[in-house]
This record gives sequence, C-alpha cells and structure tokens, in this order.
Amino acid sequence: MTQVGIIGAGPAGLMLSHLLHRQGITSVVLERRRRDYVERRVRAGVLEQGSTDLLASTGVGERMQREGLAHDGIKLRFAGEEHRIDFRRLTGRGITVYGQQEVVKDLIKQRLADGGEIWFEAEATAIEGIDGDHPRIAYRRNGEEATLSCEFVAGCDGSHGVSHAGLEAKSYERSYPFSWLGILAKTPPASNELIYAYHERGFALHSMRSPGISRLYLQVEAGDRMDAWPEARIWDELRLRLAEPKLQPGEIIEDGITPMRSMVMEPMQCGRLFLAGDAAHIVPATGAKGMNLALADVKVLAEALTAWYRSRSHDLLDRYSELCLGRVWRAEHFSAWMTALLHRDPAGDPFDHKLRLSYLRYIVTSEAAATTLAENYVGFEGA
Ligand code: APR
Ligand code: PHB
Repeated sequence: MTQVGIIGAGPAGLMLSHLLHRQGITSVVLERRRRDYVERRVRAGVLEQGSTDLLASTGVGERMQREGLAHDGIKLRFAGEEHRIDFRRLTGRGITVYGQQEVVKDLIKQRLADGGEIWFEAEATAIEGIDGDHPRIAYRRNGEEATLSCEFVAGCDGSHGVSHAGLEAKSYERSYPFSWLGILAKTPPASNELIYAYHERGFALHSMRSPGISRLYLQVEAGDRMDAWPEARIWDELRLRLAEPKLQPGEIIEDGITPMRSMVMEPMQCGRLFLAGDAAHIVPATGAKGMNLALADVKVLAEALTAWYRSRSHDLLDRYSELCLGRVWRAEHFSAWMTALLHRDPAGDPFDHKLRLSYLRYIVTSEAAATTLAENYVGFEGA
C-alpha cells in the first residue's frame, strides 16, 4: 500500500516521486527494466530553463549545474550558409545540454538516498479500480504476479507502456515518412553550439554530451535499419549534410534508429489515473521538447496531489489535463513545425525544396521569425 503508485522510472516517474517525497507523500515506482538499463539508455539532451530551475530548486541539479553545457543559441545551416539564432538576445534565456540518462541517474541516486522505493524489474501489467478510491496496479516481478494498492496511479510509462490502455481518451496522432538515426561517438564536438542542418539529402543534427563526446543524428528513411548504415556511410553522410570540416569520426558507442511521431491523449486523466510525459504525448525530437514536457507535467501533477493531501481539494486534480494541454499543444506545434522546416519530404518535389529554403532564409533575416523559433525552443511560457 502506498499513496501514489507510479509506473515508469523515466524522468517523469522519478521526478514525480521526488517532488511528492518533498511534500511528505509516499510513492512506489515500478520499473520494468533494470537500473543499469535505464541509467544507460541514451535519449534526449536539451533542458529548458524551466527544467533546470525545477532540478536545481528541488536539490537534484548540482551535477547538472557543474557538467551541463550552457548554450545561448543554435546554428542553422542550409544552402552552404550558416546562421546563428541568438536565444539570449532574442528571449533573454538559454538552454542546457545535459543527457536525459544523467538526469535519470541523478534522480535515482537522490530517491534512494531519501529512502525512496523504486522497484526495478517490476512490470505493470494492468491498472484496476481507477473509478474508486483504491486503485491497484497489477505487476510481475521475478516471475511472480502481485498487486500494489494505492490512492492514485501515475502512468509515467512512456510511449510503450500500459497506462494509456486504461484511459478513455481521444488520441491525436501523426507519423512522419522518415526516422532519425542517432549515434553517440567518442569525438570532440566540432561546434560549441548545436547545428541543425537542412540539406537536399535530408536533415542532420550535431549535438554533444561533453567535451569528448558528440551526439549526432541523420534523417533516414522510415523503414531503414542499422545494417543499411555501416559506420563509414554514417560519417560520410554527416560530413556532407552538416558541411562541417572539423567533424572527425570517432568510436561509435551507441547507435539506433527512432521513428518520428506526434501523439497527444486528451484528456490525460481518468478517475484516479493520471498520465504524464511520453505516456500522454509524443513529439518528434526536432524541437527538443520531450524531456521538458515530461518534467513540466509532473510539476503540475505533484502540486495537484499536494493540494489533495493537504486539504482534500480536488480542483487542481480535476484540471490537471487542462493545465498541461496548452503547453503540450504549443510544443506539439513547434516540434511538427521544426520537423517540416528541416526535413526532406520523400514525397516532396523541387518546389517544396525551394519553399523550405525560402522559409529558412526568412527565419534568419527576419527578427520576428527568428524570435518565433527562439521563444519556442527555449520554452514559451505563455502557453
Ligand atoms: N511497467 C513498468 N515500467 C514500464 C512499463 C511497465 N508496463 N512500460 C514502460 N515502463 C518504463 C520504461 O522502461 C521507462 O523506463 O517506463 C519508463 C518510461 O520512461 P521514458 O520513456 O523515459 O518516459 P518519460 O519519463 O515520460 O520521459 C520522456 O523520454 O523518450 C524520451 O523523448 C522522450 O525525452 C522524453 C522522455
Ligand atoms: C540531443 O542532444 O540528443 C538532441 C538535441 C536536440 C534535439 C534532439 C536531440 O532537437
């Protein structure tokens, strides 16, 4: 028995558990994977100011503040040109590059130091009784079936979890006719800022994790598999699309292909089940929003649960979806917009290519257009 049963130890589930603990609310996190697996899983890497503030103000930002890379802008490359979008000048804010698995490591360490319950290799299989006061999570651990009783269930189990199956919600979805091939490589970043490149052959992105480790992405065809991409081909294509002579091939320590998807569940709640993060919405990675949305959701959810446990007030719980969805849809629009702006459409024609170049040129010459990109990238606070 616990107050809040949380499914999933990604940024959403772990941060929720941490925030609840700070308010004296108990929780158990069920995670189907092993600890070393979730700590090593390479994912996103960009934190908005709102996310870094949340980590720092709740005592889990110390390593991020030391090791995270503070960036004040990004570079856009296309048609042999490079242009900088200066976030600091346009919005007064910047971003921090810090790997999602580092955020996960920091949160797990803090939860365990605080005596928190994270049950690894415990897979939730069903959620029952969400219309009553005592929902239950059925789970499997060490081959045994068991049930966790709680007062609320937080579905933080990502895009392949079980929690959204229990929701009576409408799912709004879009898929894209391309994927991202991502690598983590032992090579110093060739740029001090992220490079987003649009090339006739497709999109490429140069990101980083530390002074010796680069994170690089290529647009590939939707059905592509890694065996079609030997290392030499990856580096050749990156060099060509990024047009970056300083980029040196290095040992590839992780690789993978991720499909691009957009999805929103509305509402994000049903009875005593509340979804947060990727379980409730997916964004294509071009806008760097996934981890930020996950953290922002659980901040709202923790406040709503705190209000309930303090004074039995259910107003914030009732409005949880509504309080999240404005921000979620702004991020969905921005992510789809950045994706359309920077990717080659396999069904597109030369006219389409010319339109994209014109739009890119508009962004780098109009202060208004550049501000639109910048204020969304750093996290639009009016949504
Ligand atoms: N039972 C227990 N755990 C589960 C189950 C299940 N049935 N299904 C999934 N999980 C776990 C996964 O193993 C994973 O560790 O839930 C966790 C979900 O974590 P994330 O996928 O990281 O999702 P979230 O916390 O919402 O963070 C969103 O992740 O994919 C990126 O771009 C996305 O940056 C964003 C972030
Ligand atoms: C990353 O560093 O992994 C990253 C950066 C920016 C994106 C997506 C991913 O838009």
